[in-house]
Amino acid sequence: MHDPTIPNVNIGVVGHVDHGKTTLVSQLTGSWTDRHSEELKRGISIRLGYADATFYKCPKCGGEELWTNTETCPTCGEKLEAVRSVSFVDAPGHETLMATMLSGSAIMDGAMLVIAANEPCPQPQTKEHLMALELTGIKNIVIVQNKIDVVPQKKALENYKQIKAFVKGTVAENAPIIPVSAQKRINFGMLLDALNTTIPDVERETDVMPIMLIARSFDVNRPGSSWRDIKGGVIGGSLIRGEFHEGDEIEIRPGRQYMSENKAKWEPITTKITSMNKASHKVPTATPGGLSAIGTKLDPAITKSDTLVGQVAGMAGSLPPVWDKLKFDVTLMERVVGSSAELNIDPLRLKEPLMLSVGTAVTVGIVLAVKKNQAEVMLKRPVCAEVGSRIAISRQVGGRWRLIGMGLLTE
Ligand code: GTP
Repeated sequence: MHDPTIPNVNIGVVGHVDHGKTTLVSQLTGSWTDRHSEELKRGISIRLGYADATFYKCPKCGGEELWTNTETCPTCGEKLEAVRSVSFVDAPGHETLMATMLSGSAIMDGAMLVIAANEPCPQPQTKEHLMALELTGIKNIVIVQNKIDVVPQKKALENYKQIKAFVKGTVAENAPIIPVSAQKRINFGMLLDALNTTIPDVERETDVMPIMLIARSFDVNRPGSSWRDIKGGVIGGSLIRGEFHEGDEIEIRPGRQYMSENKAKWEPITTKITSMNKASHKVPTATPGGLSAIGTKLDPAITKSDTLVGQVAGMAGSLPPVWDKLKFDVTLMERVVGSSAELNIDPLRLKEPLMLSVGTAVTVGIVLAVKKNQAEVMLKRPVCAEVGSRIAISRQVGGRWRLIGMGLLTE
């Protein structure tokens, strides 16, 4: 049976800037996901945040007191057994950081769409993030109506009606809407119950070749560490299938860029796994689902500051192809939703630049050919992806990348 203290699913936390995503994750997990000095200074999330939580159920209490994220029941004091663990992927809500949100959506099994009750609904990135969930095929959604502590009940109900009207006809039409105050920890039992029923654990294939989508990469050494204590580079992300074991020789693609005859070329990086962590546990085997941190023998200079985000790790020789051109079937939306002015979306144009999100990779390319429902794009940076992968397509509108549709990689 699956160990309930090891996360098996990733729950995305999405929504408009400042609606309370990072506060919510922090209260649910005990860790603040904005860790970078720039994030702390500006008060917004810039990179993907991540944190794990274990949920418990009290056998004695009923109603919303049933679920908790503490080892003892806050109502009756009973010592509790873990029921399940999840990883949260906290996406930035600022409109300029849509590419990061899309990169995160590749590893989300479900999502919490956080909507602040003290602002009219929908705000631009509430719409754009929901559209992104829809386009990337994320169906298991819980809507978190946050900041109910700062609005009177009448206003909260009006906001609830706005949310209901907004999600009508979308993938979130029947999503539960849970009113909470992330800051004051109000109604968390109900929220955990909704997460448990709406975003259940997922059966994963373990006896197949592993594929890990890299969402973060780090140099974990402190400045001034002695060379004797230097730890190898760490990659973080999710195994979408298969398992990694300590000592495995792995390959990372597209890998490293080098110049040959004045042309940029890419070669796979190979390395050995030295340690693995899931949640705060050291594990000998990294199972699929949830977030994993993989320690390697790589020079930390190769992994520092998210350098390997968007790459794919697996066993040497078994990874999907690396593409420098992508051909894909295109489905465009009717309107741009992320800006305050909702513009119509014209068909793709020859030679126009597009931003494509494939797995956790985000790359820019130029349209080489376009037929009715098909496009071919020459990429500035190659991507490693399986045929059939979903591609989120963004275009420059008013000086910003805006999500305009979805593609399916054909060859
Ligand atoms: P980005 O990641 O930058 O998009 O922001 P965010 O959605 O993560 O918002 P964050 O958690 O940083 O919260 C924004 C502000 O709202 C902070 O000042 C929080 O203290 C405040 N806040 C969050 N949740 C609540 C809540 O439930 N009630 C009240 N009153 N304030 C809240």
